[in-house]
Amino acid sequence: MLANSLVELDRQHLIHPLSSFRGHEQGGLRVLRSAKGATLTDSEGNQLLDGFAGLWCVNAGYGHESVVEAAAEQMRRLPYATGYFDMGSEPAIRLAAELAERAPGDLDHVYFTLGGSDAVDSTIRFIRYYNHARGMPQKDQFISLSQGFHGSSTAGAGLTALPGFHAGFGVPFGWQHKISSHYVYRNPVGPDPEAIIAASVAELRAKVEELGAERVAAFYAEPIQGSGGVLVPPPGWMKAMAKVCREMDILFVADEVITAFGRTGPLFACEDEDIVPDFITVAKGLTSGYAPLGAVLMADHVYQVIAEGAGEALIGHGYTYSGHPVSAAVALAVLRLYEGGLLENGRRAGERLMAGLHGLADHPLVGDVRGRGMLAAIELVTDKGAKTPLPAAAEASRRIFDRAYRNGLIVRAFGSGAIGFAPPLCCTLDEIDEMVARTRRVLDETLDDPDVGAAMTGA
Ligand SMILES: Cc1ncc(COP(=O)(O)O)c(C=O)c1O
Repeated sequence: MLANSLVELDRQHLIHPLSSFRGHEQGGLRVLRSAKGATLTDSEGNQLLDGFAGLWCVNAGYGHESVVEAAAEQMRRLPYATGYFDMGSEPAIRLAAELAERAPGDLDHVYFTLGGSDAVDSTIRFIRYYNHARGMPQKDQFISLSQGFHGSSTAGAGLTALPGFHAGFGVPFGWQHKISSHYVYRNPVGPDPEAIIAASVAELRAKVEELGAERVAAFYAEPIQGSGGVLVPPPGWMKAMAKVCREMDILFVADEVITAFGRTGPLFACEDEDIVPDFITVAKGLTSGYAPLGAVLMADHVYQVIAEGAGEALIGHGYTYSGHPVSAAVALAVLRLYEGGLLENGRRAGERLMAGLHGLADHPLVGDVRGRGMLAAIELVTDKGAKTPLPAAAEASRRIFDRAYRNGLIVRAFGSGAIGFAPPLCCTLDEIDEMVARTRRVLDETLDDPDVGAAMTGA
């Protein structure tokens, strides 16, 4: 089929995630055709370095035959097995065991979902059930962070703190509360790590006191806030927040949908901080995007309360595709790749990426460079001293994405003017250098933009 007829069919029938329906009808789309390693090819034959690993998920890179084989073999043998009625399949069981073995502390129990949104949604249900089970049903208030992203389910979208996910959808609900992000570059207390940690701790305590500790069920945080603009907390921040939660009998949920599976270096970013949350949610890198799969990792002490509380009763939470054998077989094959050298390669490439991006700090538009491992961002400003964001007229999200694309690079172009990077862990150092070089070209072209130029001279 010709690409242009695909464009027309798409316009008429396919609703795209996080899109302007009208904008998409007018703008059309680019059809991606194939990929290998860290390089995508579109339907016009353009080759693109994927600096964003699909949607920060193809951590292993494209085209691994071992993963394709694992999926094909499982499809031939047993394409589906329900987990209902006390049945199961070998890949789901093995994957649960392997995740539990590698996860920090007593995160020994795994519930599989189809992705990150339903993993977050499942934690909300489990946490409510947990508090009912221990006779505290009034403990039903949830706290998360500004700029946080916890997916797009009806309940999870209210933990998410990005306005576009709220407007028109009737969320957040009254039981969903926010405290400020650590956002180091723009934190009102300044950049000092200790001051930022102290401010976040104080705000969490104050919020809990306002709601009443006996009412607060859980606090959610991403080890690095991804969709909010790749906001990296100061070292020790997650640990300090986890400590407050423990003290106040609040469950701590680390949403590692982006950060797990080598994105920041180790398999779980919580290892960077040596913390053991009560829940970890994962998805994306779990299968490297080769098949849909997410998971909730649940601490043993939570599991035991739920199990005891329910007794013989069924715990009414289940999906047809929980523990899908093909997705689980894919995840096991991907885990072998991570542990067979990809995590190591990702660490080396991540150092190169951070060094390269820091090398862009001299560019007149670059106000901030931040990241850890293979998860990074640069934030563009028109005045470095005043940290003035790009003007709205510069349409950062669209123009920067398009410019990068024309330069053979895919990045995440945030509306705020930040540019996000999450390359596959398989990248060679040369590919990383090339991504940085292409980014500099994008910055130069943006500097030539009349809107941006006018904002810089104050004209
Ligand atoms: C931290 C976090 N949680 C949850 C989600 C939702 O995951 P999914 O898109 O797989 O539903 C995302 C997606 O980007 C995420 O970044």
